Amino acid sequence: YGGYGAGRPGGYGDFPVVRPRRLRTTPAMRRMVAEHRLHPAELILPAFVREDLREPVEISSMPGVYQHTLDTLRKAAAEAVAAGVGGIMLFGVPEEAKKDAVGSQGTDPDGILQRALREVRAEVGDDLVVMSDLCLDEFTDHGHCGVLDERGRVDNDATLERYAEMACVQAEAGSHVLGPSGMMDGQVGFVRRALDEAGHQDVSLLAYTAKYASAFYGPFREAVNSSLTGDRRSYQQDPANARESLRELALDLAEGADMVMVKPALPYLDVLRRVADAVDVPVAAYQISGEYAMVEAAAQRGWIDRDAAIMETLTGVRRAGANLILTYWATEVARRLS
Ligand code: PBG
Repeated sequence: YGGYGAGRPGGYGDFPVVRPRRLRTTPAMRRMVAEHRLHPAELILPAFVREDLREPVEISSMPGVYQHTLDTLRKAAAEAVAAGVGGIMLFGVPEEAKKDAVGSQGTDPDGILQRALREVRAEVGDDLVVMSDLCLDEFTDHGHCGVLDERGRVDNDATLERYAEMACVQAEAGSHVLGPSGMMDGQVGFVRRALDEAGHQDVSLLAYTAKYASAFYGPFREAVNSSLTGDRRSYQQDPANARESLRELALDLAEGADMVMVKPALPYLDVLRRVADAVDVPVAAYQISGEYAMVEAAAQRGWIDRDAAIMETLTGVRRAGANLILTYWATEVARRLS
């Protein structure tokens, strides 16, 4: 940026020659020079389906997001397809009485998540990438992501056996992509081997590579009627660590992850950038329940412009390196983009 007036930074005397504002003059100009843009196909809609429901229930801490019945879930999936959304990630909420210490409903072919997978696949076929959460916390009576040992600690290797079984059941129910989200060591490789041995070579793994023990999961716990007391800090990552995510990343890739994810999104954009710079597989970011709730709550009070805030957060996540974004606004934003 030398040129005329180079003696003084950016100008002749007091006047700037180089004027970045020229490229911001009109909406058309700004649109043309935008470095990043969102596309509906890279958005993934997380959706909850609950077993004992006649009517969908709105999640109070996530206005506009529902615990679906199988019927309304099918409708939501059809709407996502119509809007051009790329994928849907399903979470099952079993009847309270069916929760147990090992999360049996997670491996029951008639469990709510497996039924939901079959219904959604019947609705959308291959027009939407159908994904499922591969984790036990929705199904255990203690609310942890794995099974416990006799001292009440989450037992890593015993949990892997449960995940392997769960993976095969979800694959048989029609899931295209499994999202192991429990942060157990070795989960990607263990599940990959089990899938391959069962003939599910084509089912992909979206590894929750960097998943932090976050306060922003709060509304999700309501969304899945979580039974958790305590926290997940012995398996999810400490928010103070970034380099550790690169270690998790190397392991997930070595174990056969097809895609990797950073979660939450907004408080971890630096981690997202580091992961995105380090890999040659698609990188996803999960804009989680608390991120959604913050924007909706502030907007309800008239404190921020809701639609602008939504687009700004998604654009920020995109800019930080995400190819795919899981967001509860997926269908709404996809409609707005097209
Ligand atoms: C674990 C899981 C969680 C979320 C997705 N998968 C909760 C947790 O780890 O406590 C959170 C998603 C969100 O907050 O939107 N099955």
